[in-house]
Amino acid sequence: MAAKLVYVLNGPNLNLLGTREPEIYGSQTLDDIGALLVARGEELDIAIDMRQSNHEGHLVDWLHEARAEGASAVLLNAGAYTHTSVALLDAIRAIGVPVIEVHLSNPHTREGFRHTSWVGMAAKGTIAGFGADSYLLALEAAARL
Ligand code: DQA
Repeated sequence: MAAKLVYVLNGPNLNLLGTREPEIYGSQTLDDIGALLVARGEELDIAIDMRQSNHEGHLVDWLHEARAEGASAVLLNAGAYTHTSVALLDAIRAIGVPVIEVHLSNPHTREGFRHTSWVGMAAKGTIAGFGADSYLLALEAAARL
């Protein structure tokens, strides 16, 4: 059994990675990213539990579950809910598990509505703008917590 457990939660439209605006989000699918995380997790002795939902409440439930299951950290790419969801902000504050906000793109170089992050108000830190590598860099950060 791995020494640590890290949840990797993905929000709306990220199931379409690979075909969704590849000039912004790259050509790797979410499954490709999951495989990279599992491989790096094995080297770091971290088990990865990765999920995706287009529904805000599922993400809230999974944040609660991460605490119940004893996860040492959560990597959260909440997609567009990043910029709208007080429920995710409250859930992150409620669980007491460090959450690392992840984005493939750098929202600060994009439309103004993406410059606000409710997730970021409660996250331990944010890694954005490195494509699929954002997830791997966030896993390295989780390993060091
Ligand atoms: C995203 C950035 C968000 O603004 C956008 O709504 C997404 C993806 C990213 O990973 O770059 O769905 O979270």
